[in-house]
Amino acid sequence: MYIGIDLGTSSVKLMVMDLEGNIVYETNRDYDVSYPKPLCAEQNPEDWWAATLNGLKEITSKVDRMQIKSIGFSGQMHGLVTLDKDNNSLYPAILWCDQRTQDECDDITGYFGEELSDLVGNKALTGFTAPKILWLKKHQPHVFDKIHMMLLPKDYVRFRLTGEYATDYSDASGMLLLDVENKAYSKPMLDYIGINERQLPKLYESYHVTGKLTEEVKRILGLEQDVLVVGGAGDQAAGAIGSGVVQSGVVSVTLGTSGVVFAAHDDYKVDDENRLHAFCHASGKYHTMGVMISAASCLKWWNESASKTDDFDKILSEIDDTISDVIFLPYLLGERTPYADPNAKGNFFGLNMTHERKDMTKAVLEGVAFGLKDSLDLIKDMGLPVKEIRLLGGGAKSSVWKQVIADVFGQTVYDINTNQGGALGAAILAAVGAGDFDSVETASSKLIKTTVSYEPNMDNYEKYKLKHKKYQALYHHLKDLF
Ligand code: XUL
Repeated sequence: MYIGIDLGTSSVKLMVMDLEGNIVYETNRDYDVSYPKPLCAEQNPEDWWAATLNGLKEITSKVDRMQIKSIGFSGQMHGLVTLDKDNNSLYPAILWCDQRTQDECDDITGYFGEELSDLVGNKALTGFTAPKILWLKKHQPHVFDKIHMMLLPKDYVRFRLTGEYATDYSDASGMLLLDVENKAYSKPMLDYIGINERQLPKLYESYHVTGKLTEEVKRILGLEQDVLVVGGAGDQAAGAIGSGVVQSGVVSVTLGTSGVVFAAHDDYKVDDENRLHAFCHASGKYHTMGVMISAASCLKWWNESASKTDDFDKILSEIDDTISDVIFLPYLLGERTPYADPNAKGNFFGLNMTHERKDMTKAVLEGVAFGLKDSLDLIKDMGLPVKEIRLLGGGAKSSVWKQVIADVFGQTVYDINTNQGGALGAAILAAVGAGDFDSVETASSKLIKTTVSYEPNMDNYEKYKLKHKKYQALYHHLKDLF
């Protein structure tokens, strides 16, 4: 059996999978995010460790623990954990959603200019790790001077489990420190920040073994055998493995709190303007993704904060097949793709006296679908094939929304046979690392299949093409107003 640990932002989910891909056991532990100042989001790495160890204790008391062979991870990406020479945490972990680093991003962009993309495959975004390190250097120099090791969130938990400083290429891709194409830390970037490779974890493929549980952890969990710990992956790459998105042509669209369009491909590729993230995939190859900051959270906001209802089904049941003539811009927390614009704003446009709540609800579903289409179009513009689209995430429970997405994309979209995402991907990586599958691609495509399909209505597609153009124009007209 294999354990997948999905270290998320609000909780850690742990699952046990057997060789046939059956979920034998699963459990969750919650923890808090603190927002000490505007733009800041932090967590205490010790909380992740306590929650994970607690979950593992439950697992080893409930399943046949002698059958556990290996452990894999899916982790919230980009966060910065700093340790001193005694491995004590020096500063709270600065998270992926923390936005304090715009000045540092401007500094990095100003210094490297066009060369940045050649060095690290991506542009400097406030969520990424390198600007967080520069922020510490500038604002907490006494902390910066003591840094012995810098780790990503899941890699801190790995360190507590195995005593090893290690990470994987998919998660490291989001640090802005990795030469993604060549899978090595970028010396010019490290030199610019003023750090060296000894302060960074060793790099592995997601399915390679990075160590094994320490004797102390084995004793706490009552384990006698060696348990291998594999690299694991960033949450998006692990989620893709857990959704069968491993081959070129297969694309996933996630309607979670955020929205992600994720394409797997064999060779390194980057879009001309770096609007998409160019990252290593957990399969050993590469992937490209666009991230919308607010996706299903727009409907949640519209339902709870704006409409004051707590009944999703009710507001969704009000809407009909008509295309709304209201346009909704989904930028409730700024945006990442296609516009790296933390100041982008949400909007309803085109209202008149005839409009009711249902028109606006429909506009919200459409607006999120347009945002996802923006990323999908960028992926297609790069020449990447989009043969099969799999819909994932909480919002993908709504068949109305899935139909809107099929109509906006003008392409069939599919459900899959699992909604376990990252934790399942992590367990699959553990199974591959234990040598029980030939490759991540074999395991993932064997265990995950498409189920129901949603065919596009091509009349609606033509109408949505026009509406999408207006949606894009609206953002450009409004962006300098606020
Ligand atoms: C990916 C990203 C999120 C976080 C949190 O770039 O920012 O997926 O990892 O889930």
